[in-house]
Amino acid sequence: MKAVYVREFGPIEAMELADLPIPTPGPRQVLVRVKASGVNFAETRMRAGTYSGQTAPFVLGMEAAGIVEVVGSEVTEFQPGDRVFGRARGSHAEYVLFDADHLIPLPDSLTFEQGAAIPVGWLTAWHGLVTLAAVQPGQRVLIEGIASSVGSAALQIARWRGAWVAGTASRDEKVARAREWGANAAYNYLREDFVGRVRADTAGHGADVSMLTIGGEHGARTLAAMADEGTVLLFGSTGGRTLPLDLNIGSRNLRLLSFSITTSRRFLPETMVSFRQVALPLFANGLFQPVVDRVLPLAQVREAHRLINERTHFGKIVLRVD
Ligand SMILES: NC(=O)c1ccc[n+]([C@@H]2O[C@H](COP(=O)([O-])OP(=O)(O)OC[C@H]3O[C@@H](n4cnc5c(N)ncnc54)[C@H](OP(=O)(O)O)[C@@H]3O)[C@@H](O)[C@H]2O)c1
Repeated sequence: MKAVYVREFGPIEAMELADLPIPTPGPRQVLVRVKASGVNFAETRMRAGTYSGQTAPFVLGMEAAGIVEVVGSEVTEFQPGDRVFGRARGSHAEYVLFDADHLIPLPDSLTFEQGAAIPVGWLTAWHGLVTLAAVQPGQRVLIEGIASSVGSAALQIARWRGAWVAGTASRDEKVARAREWGANAAYNYLREDFVGRVRADTAGHGADVSMLTIGGEHGARTLAAMADEGTVLLFGSTGGRTLPLDLNIGSRNLRLLSFSITTSRRFLPETMVSFRQVALPLFANGLFQPVVDRVLPLAQVREAHRLINERTHFGKIVLRVD
């Protein structure tokens, strides 16, 4: 099978299309014929060798949509021919093995490209906003990187929960698109005092919940925009791994919650269960819409990484696997 292979960590050119054997499913695994695979910021780090735990060589990719080819001996919930999607390592390939617990039926109303745009971004946002922060109607939610894969999903989820939603981005076009997708406010953090804007737009209250991923000075500004008793969800290190913390925030009773959907013990029993039961019907009826920035053929994975680095995308860049 064709697969995007990284023999040694390196720049964009380190990715090549290789011919590899089709894997065989274990008892609780499912072999899926991949039709589309989403591209994530984390993969640029995996390819470069700066993602903790990643060893080389490896096949890139963290999520896909496709058709079940073979099920393992202990899998009863799926059968060959089912349309499915979910998170699986090595998904930039013609076939990938899923852990059955991480596989989800793909609603008929969604294309494979839309299905591939959901798993990582939406499950991360769902875990943070629904499982951990339990966002309530009327709360004010501030989303860093609102145009990102995670951010654009968080925007729809927070709006559905009845929250007032604001976000940050580095370009006016992304700010405008966030408004089109339903954000109550969006700020270009490179040229606007977004702390002052959040305060002004919430009548002095500040954000009850924030999703913090950029770090550095941007993160310090997000903390400054929080309301007392607010919840800060720390889920990424997109702009670096440090966050200047003025310990005076202690007087403001903030909750700082860090999480990874890969290691959280609450992910499978809570997030996957509520996502299947509650979010899936909302995708099926069109209330939730996967945000596909553009679709490229698998062979253009280098262009996909170039676009992620360029930071002009809104939502998910998807690779089509023919
Ligand atoms: N905790 C978890 O379980 C989990 C799960 C999934 C993803 N993540 C993390 O969530 C973050 C977002 O992932 P994603 O796939 O949604 O990203 P993405 O779609 O590629 O978007 C990332 C955005 O971050 C912003 N950004 C700000 N400073 C940046 C910098 N120095 N370098 C690059 N981007 C910068 C950019 O938007 P602007 O230019 O508009 O600011 C960029 O477009 C990543 O850190 C990822 O590792 C965590």
